[in-house]
Amino acid sequence: MASVRSLAPLLVLLLLLAPLLAASAEEGENKSSSLGGLFWATGKDESDLLPVVDSDDPSAVESENDEFAGGFSSLDGMLEWAIGHSDPVKLKEKANDIQKLSAEELKKRQLEIKELMERLKMPSDAELMQTAISDLNNSSISLEDRQRALNELLILVEPIDNANDLDKLGGLVAVIQELHHSDPEIRTTSAWILGKAGQNNALVQNQILAYGALTKLMKMVNSSFTEEAIKALYAISSLIRNNKVGQKLFYSEDGNIMLQDIMTNSSMDIHLQKKAVFLVADLADFQLGNADNAELSYLGDRLFLKAVIDLTSVPDLDLQEKALMAVRSLLQLTSTKALDFKDFCSLDEVLERMREHLVKLMSQEEHAEYARDLESLRREVYIIFHKKVEQVTWVPT
Ligand SMILES: *[C@@H]1O[C@H](CO)[C@@H](O)[C@H](O)[C@H]1NC(C)=O
Ligand SMILES: *[C@@H]1O[C@H](CO)[C@@H](O)[C@H](O)[C@H]1NC(C)=O
Ligand SMILES: *[C@@H]1O[C@H](CO)[C@@H](O)[C@H](O)[C@H]1NC(C)=O
Ligand SMILES: *[C@@H]1O[C@H](CO)[C@@H](O)[C@H](O)[C@H]1NC(C)=O
Ligand SMILES: *[C@@H]1O[C@H](CO)[C@@H](O)[C@H](O)[C@H]1NC(C)=O
Repeated sequence: MASVRSLAPLLVLLLLLAPLLAASAEEGENKSSSLGGLFWATGKDESDLLPVVDSDDPSAVESENDEFAGGFSSLDGMLEWAIGHSDPVKLKEKANDIQKLSAEELKKRQLEIKELMERLKMPSDAELMQTAISDLNNSSISLEDRQRALNELLILVEPIDNANDLDKLGGLVAVIQELHHSDPEIRTTSAWILGKAGQNNALVQNQILAYGALTKLMKMVNSSFTEEAIKALYAISSLIRNNKVGQKLFYSEDGNIMLQDIMTNSSMDIHLQKKAVFLVADLADFQLGNADNAELSYLGDRLFLKAVIDLTSVPDLDLQEKALMAVRSLLQLTSTKALDFKDFCSLDEVLERMREHLVKLMSQEEHAEYARDLESLRREVYIIFHKKVEQVTWVPT
């Protein structure tokens, strides 16, 4: 809050006025309508009370039963700061001036302080979002300010209530527009915001999908700016997760091919590959949970399966694990064929090589635990795979 600095002298004045105003309020008819009401709104524990006023001035420190008790605790940091930044000589002069004020002058001060308090009031999240959105909507703001507005929204959309309000405030349209900005970092943060806002939130997912943002996000995955590609894929995953409409759109835009390209390209960024294979597992799990929804059976192509299985042989253990989890889910789909895994993808050989590699790793202390976990997942995949193969009717020759 940049304005606090300029308010410091006023704050100090407020501090000094407090006891005087308390006295005047006691004489008035309705104490709660006095300045005091602004102070003791927080109802803090008495143990939290901190006498923040200069101890040289005995009248300034309020007792626990006093109306002011507790009020300062919500403002104490600010007031302490204000005192620390004030000239003690001037402070004393001000204090003396205040002693001389007439009742009428005092009342005027009271109003001024009320106004000050209004200005000090922290804006609500909705107001902060509104400000950021109007900044985005203002074509003459600097790139830096645009980035700042987006960074603010990124934090603000985290609580689900804020995410739900975003569209009403014009925020989704504003952020989606930023996906087309010429600056890659602006586009990156915008994709990130959409991903965060839509995370586990069907309402916002559907709003973003209805604005047609998925197509643009899928293009962004091709970006040569790696962070943009990563955040775009993050947003896509977030938007189509457990969302049938989103997944249908994704497949209609060849999302499975996109994933396959990422998985098979060995010069692709490893984070992007991890995100892609994680999304594969998620999409397969959704199909499993929806009785193998035939409309969504785009994952059975054998080239696609091979792309996933080949990632179980990469050096990175984390990527291996994610790929293995995806294979486990894909094996359970009725739309995938046992013989594609067996013959086209050589899953038996792949799993055996992996076993041998893991045995070696288990003998190295720094990898032992992880290798054991991975081996138990590998064995699980092996069992599921062989059950699937056994279900195929063999015609003896
Ligand atoms: C006194 O304050 C209370 C609480 O804010 C309010 O309900 C009431 O109307 C006020 N009374 C007068 C006389 O202003
Ligand atoms: C747009 O931004 C410029 C530059 O920061 C500012 O001067 C102007 O007041 C803003 N316009 C609106 C409508 O907020
Ligand atoms: C953005 O600005 C236009 C006018 O330039 C206005 O019509 C629109 O309501 C504004 N949107 C938001 C969300 O502020
Ligand atoms: C991404 O790039 C690849 C290879 O250049 C291309 O085949 C594909 O159509 C592009 N995808 C999108 C969504 O633009
Ligand atoms: C593989 O990825 C790299 C780095 O992202 C990219 O430059 C290249 O075009 C990709 N190759 C293909 C065949 O898509």
